Amino acid sequence: MRLWIKNIPQYLNKTITLYGWVDSRRDHGKIIFIDLRDRTAKVQVVFSPAQAETYKLAEKLRVEWVVEIKGRVNLRPENMQNPKILTGKIEIAAEELQVISQAQCLPFEISDDNKSVNEETRLKYRYLDLRSSRLERNLINRHRIIKFIRDFLSERDFIEIETPILTKSTPEGARDYVVPSRLEPGKFYALPQSPQQYKQLLMVAGLERYFQIARCFRDEDSRGDRQPEFTQLDLEMDFPSQEDILKLIEELLKELVTKIYPEKKIKEFPFPRISYQEAMKRYKSDRPDLREANAKGEKDPNELAFAFVIEFPLFEWKKEEKRWGAVHHPFTRPKLEPGETIEGVIKKIKQNPSLLLANQYDCVLNGNEIGGGSLRISEPELLKAVFEILGHQPEEIEAKFGHLLRAFKYGVPPHGGIALGLDRIIMLLQNEPSIREVIAFPKTGDGRDLMMEAPSPIDEKQLKELHLKTLNS
Ligand code: AMO
Repeated sequence: MRLWIKNIPQYLNKTITLYGWVDSRRDHGKIIFIDLRDRTAKVQVVFSPAQAETYKLAEKLRVEWVVEIKGRVNLRPENMQNPKILTGKIEIAAEELQVISQAQCLPFEISDDNKSVNEETRLKYRYLDLRSSRLERNLINRHRIIKFIRDFLSERDFIEIETPILTKSTPEGARDYVVPSRLEPGKFYALPQSPQQYKQLLMVAGLERYFQIARCFRDEDSRGDRQPEFTQLDLEMDFPSQEDILKLIEELLKELVTKIYPEKKIKEFPFPRISYQEAMKRYKSDRPDLREANAKGEKDPNELAFAFVIEFPLFEWKKEEKRWGAVHHPFTRPKLEPGETIEGVIKKIKQNPSLLLANQYDCVLNGNEIGGGSLRISEPELLKAVFEILGHQPEEIEAKFGHLLRAFKYGVPPHGGIALGLDRIIMLLQNEPSIREVIAFPKTGDGRDLMMEAPSPIDEKQLKELHLKTLNS
């Protein structure tokens, strides 16, 4: 395995071989200095005219060329040492140089943060953009966060299970992305807006504690905190109380911050639980920012004000469509009054849906919604009553949700869960203004991948195989 630059200081006075990109080049009199960069660090390499052949080649070096360098690890003269950087006490006296790959003049200069570069250009050349140390750090910390989550949940007997990407529409309130079927003309798969129904079916299957780092697809307008495809930490468990789920999530987030972001402070632990009504009354928002601003109106990004917003209404009246909609999703369990029966709740749904509260909770952080979940309905007749009030006809209920209603007839444990928006959490922890900064290959606000040039037309043959005709073909 190649030697990482971060490990060079262990090889003082030894001759080693290094690989990486030329980060910068400076000529001082007759001496050529380059900074060689790999993922882990940069190191200064010195070419002196004494090594005539190598020196001649080094004269040609330009930034972003990929090279192999053999040289000796020397201590720098004391007045040239820079204790602030990892390799600041040493330098490499180059003996041999090999150019592995040259780089053309770049469309933009790669800096530590690339903040001054136009975003469309950054996205078109994302592989160059990702060479900046800020984006690299974002992706490395994204990896550490996901690894932490996997370990944390595995230790608590959750198992990670993958669910399909080619599936059927799941209502989460957005438009579906659809994929035409070749074998069944005129039929379509939908990409999941979330694994909601699958995770509930895994509870029927008796897997009891599920999680997944799940990709979700929603055809909605993108914003700074929204992408057409994004990643959730999705989880579900059986026999939970609402508090079981909230405690699990607040422990997970607390431990994550302590381990990976020790410089950050959680404002209040346990996280405050605020009812939806109180949030709307006190903060005029269901995702309040609970940090206090200083005299200048600034808020400390290292302060993390988590909270749970609870007790949402179950239904909302959709004025334009003149119908009831689910505040979370139709699988959310209504809150039962003490002694209330399922029949009683069904009656209430039919008579006055606005009276019902939901076993629903959102997790908020510094004014952002970073997660949401609920306890679920597991009684077929209650679920049917919800679908009906949401305006579905009986045949439609059978066609769209028959699988779930059927599954609930074969022994279903009470269950509930939550999904955290991982991109948003990572964005906030990395002090970034947009989730695009923490996703390797994000899409633009209008849903395009500028690097791959997607979406793109497909050829006539493909259209024909899929039994499709576009309006202009
Ligand atoms: P919900 O729809 O609230 O719940 O989604 C959970 C969390 O996912 C994040 N999120 C997004 N992040 C980036 N881009 C988007 N377009 C986007 N949409 C949502 C948010 C949100 O809080 N199945 C339920 C969960 C459950 O009931 O268990 C669900 O998906 O941070």
